[in-house]
Amino acid sequence: MSITHWNDVTIDYDKVLDTDESNVVLLATAVDRLPAGAVDVLDIGSGTGRLTSLCRAARPAARIVGVDPAPTMVTAAQAKFADDDGASFLEAIAEDLSVFPDASFDAAISSFALHHMELDAYDTAAAEIFRVLRPGGRFVNADQFCRVMGPVASRERALDVLDLLTAKARHYLLEACFERMLLQIDLLPRFLREDGEILTTPEYWRDALKSAGFATVEIIATPPAELYNRVIVADKA
Ligand SMILES: C[S@@+](CC[C@H](N)C(=O)[O-])C[C@H]1O[C@@H](n2cnc3c(N)ncnc32)[C@H](O)[C@@H]1O
Repeated sequence: MSITHWNDVTIDYDKVLDTDESNVVLLATAVDRLPAGAVDVLDIGSGTGRLTSLCRAARPAARIVGVDPAPTMVTAAQAKFADDDGASFLEAIAEDLSVFPDASFDAAISSFALHHMELDAYDTAAAEIFRVLRPGGRFVNADQFCRVMGPVASRERALDVLDLLTAKARHYLLEACFERMLLQIDLLPRFLREDGEILTTPEYWRDALKSAGFATVEIIATPPAELYNRVIVADKA
């Protein structure tokens, strides 16, 4: 498993992200869509456990397993939940959930993590998520998306990335904090080169989930519009 650049994050991630109301709204919208009776929940790309905390609060009876490929993130989440038997964390990626048997979870959830996958990994990840869900299970994915896909150097794709990323940076400076804006600007070359930050349209995910066998896929926009954040909800029959 290759280690992502998220292994080397030096900012106080939770503190910076907490200043960002759009992120709070996105994650809350995702958690709202967790099935009421979910007992076993998988948090994919759990990072420091921000989404995990919200899931714990919303479904106190649920057991949550977080997976993430960055060892430093897994260690941070384990430390945060050291006194909580209901949450555990281990190293894994969305594209390879072989550590879990078929039908292990009632729900899988993810926030701001899966746009780190390579484009050719979506079908594999969708199939893995489908496999580890029980019949009637639900996948909820909150993330940022783009409007145009294409070859890395295509002018249309690069323009869309520039428009989105500069709008995000302006929004974060005005509505969150200086460090949130800088995080976005620091990542701009990665988004442009598709180097570990690879935007897709929401429809790209929808098509992969449908091909994997999910019966229904809903795409929900969360404000503000210029960030192009979406929550994707996919149900297994
Ligand atoms: C921006 S953080 C988001 C963490 C957390 N979900 C949140 O909302 O605060 C993205 C996380 O995705 C993880 N990640 C990167 N590639 C991944 C993959 N292929 N599968 C699962 N997680 C991945 C990174 O290691 C990182 O911890």
